[in-house]
Amino acid sequence: MLAIRGVYEVAIKVRDLERAEDFYRRVLGLTVGIRDDARRRVFLRAGGQAGMVVLIEDRGEWPAQHLAFTVDAADIDAAAAALRRAGVEVEGPVVHDWMPAKSAYFSDPDGHELELCAPLPSSAVSPRGPQPSIETGRLVLRPFELRDAAIVRELAGDRAIADTTLEIPHPYGDEIAEAWIASHPARWERGEIATFAVTTAEAGVVGAIGLGIRPEHRRGSLGYWIGRPYWNRDYATEAVKAVIDFGFRSLALNRIQALHFVRNPASGRVMVKAGMRCEGTFREHLLKWDRLEDVAQYAILRADVAPPHGA
Ligand SMILES: CC(C)(COP(=O)(O)OP(=O)(O)OC[C@H]1O[C@@H](n2cnc3c(N)ncnc32)[C@H](O)[C@@H]1OP(=O)(O)O)[C@@H](O)C(=O)NCCC(=O)NCCS
Repeated sequence: MLAIRGVYEVAIKVRDLERAEDFYRRVLGLTVGIRDDARRRVFLRAGGQAGMVVLIEDRGEWPAQHLAFTVDAADIDAAAAALRRAGVEVEGPVVHDWMPAKSAYFSDPDGHELELCAPLPSSAVSPRGPQPSIETGRLVLRPFELRDAAIVRELAGDRAIADTTLEIPHPYGDEIAEAWIASHPARWERGEIATFAVTTAEAGVVGAIGLGIRPEHRRGSLGYWIGRPYWNRDYATEAVKAVIDFGFRSLALNRIQALHFVRNPASGRVMVKAGMRCEGTFREHLLKWDRLEDVAQYAILRADVAPPHGA
């Protein structure tokens, strides 16, 4: 088994080598290892075991990248303050509620998103609080309660809901809604998934939306349904937008993705309207009711909604 011990170097593209070198030396205190003028690149040492950051000048089009530097927990607040004094706009430091670490975010002059990340002892992270509710223009997204089981059974019990989702059984047995709702608090506590009832003031529960969480990749996966009587009122779109915002802001995710069966274009429309981008189609990717389904994958990145400063 290969045992990787750390990252030796990371390379990022920059538009102006001198400007970028100045930023990384002055603001982050990196030192020059090798300067390769012919190939317009500079190898900067990050100190200790941290390896090297390679700046490569490239005036073409390239996407912004994310670089996280580990710092000591005792230093991160002072480091963020020093960055601010140096004129850098800094978000945080924030203590993550999904991993024992504290991070501060900022951008380099080329729009790359940089992070100072300080690992904390597990005991330093307060227990995850109760799952919050989210209010949008017309909807309240709130944790399900056991008394919602009957309406879930009625709405999700419609064959049309099971037909284009993966996890919803049909027929929808009596105990299924109760067991599903009862599992939510522990799954939120473990940081696995945030499941919300989609509710309106007039009708109560009209649907459900869940954000599965993979903290190790800072990635979330959406799943949702809206009861058939409430289709085509923009409810799914409003809920998806709100949960994407929640995932980026409150869970510090970097990427939120979702899949839909190609034969279910309404869900694809929801993803497009929520700002997600189609990344491709997987042919015959999933087996549903003995039928192999073509599946489209959509995603939105944190940088798509809040371009890094200077980008
Ligand atoms: C997919 C689903 C969540 C959409 O919910 P919704 O609240 O009706 O969605 P919205 O009203 O926000 O948007 C629906 C969009 O799809 C469009 N649409 C509806 N039926 C369509 C069809 N057959 N072909 C193409 N577009 C369609 C609507 O016109 C609307 O787009 P528009 O605003 O551009 O006109 C709902 O149909 C549902 O729960 N289906 C069953 C479960 C499911 O498929 N979940 C998603 C799994 S990936």
